[in-house]
Amino acid sequence: MKDIMTAPFMVEMIRTCTNMYAHGWDERNGGNISLMLEESDVREYGDVNRVLRTIPTGFSAPTLDGKYFLVTGTGKYFKNVQYAPDVNLGLVKLTDGGTNAQLLWGFTDGGKFTSEFPAHMMSHAVRISVNPANRVVMHCHPTNLLAMTYVHTLDEKAFTRTLWQMCTECIVVFPDGVNVLPWMLCGTNEIGEATADKMKTARLVVWAQHGLYGAGVDLDEAFGLIETAEKAAEIYMKIAHLPLVNTITDDQMHLLEGRFGVKAREGYLS
Ligand code: 13P
Ligand code: ZN
Repeated sequence: MKDIMTAPFMVEMIRTCTNMYAHGWDERNGGNISLMLEESDVREYGDVNRVLRTIPTGFSAPTLDGKYFLVTGTGKYFKNVQYAPDVNLGLVKLTDGGTNAQLLWGFTDGGKFTSEFPAHMMSHAVRISVNPANRVVMHCHPTNLLAMTYVHTLDEKAFTRTLWQMCTECIVVFPDGVNVLPWMLCGTNEIGEATADKMKTARLVVWAQHGLYGAGVDLDEAFGLIETAEKAAEIYMKIAHLPLVNTITDDQMHLLEGRFGVKAREGYLS
């Protein structure tokens, strides 16, 4: 058996948590990540039949039955993941139609997966149906995007267009735009279902006055989406109170579509 601490998925997960904390997106226990893995990814690092504990999930997710997830723990600090990965992370396998999670590694202090597990798993189920290569769902509290939800309309088209106008590359990185949920109680199946519904049409979902969800084929893609949207929000928060003299026009956005081979969300450009 190989040491699980040398597994590429583990190394990348730890680096990502550390990096997100360094960006200021994950204060205290803020934020959570889930990385979907196949049995072939994990079997050389441990006995997949050795179940440490079975944890009920409180929801069903039949399409994810048998899938493995490396996931951050509830109440755990991203700051600490690099120092004690086996306490702050867990490797689980969903069974019984997704109603149970078998703990195979981690959460050594008796902990369990993030309170946002419903939003993560329901979003995974939606994203793999849109793109079978999707593997990551990531949630965090990026400062400027959060600030923006206090001063900008939450209309999804308007919110997306503002972000696209803040940096030339935004429309290239997230042509699908951002979807927005109004404030809802976090850590519930209801916000999980609402988030997953929004994930049908975009890989970024803003939770107003709370944070952001990103989905991607790997940790880099989900991180990069969040990083780009947060950069745009930062520029917005720097200029929102100033007279706007210049912008990126829709004609220029169309030039970007052509040059980079992307298609902006239907109906979002004139
Ligand atoms: P957890 O500590 O349960 O992951 O919750 C953090 C969070 O950001 C809730 O939205
Ligand atoms: Zn949160």
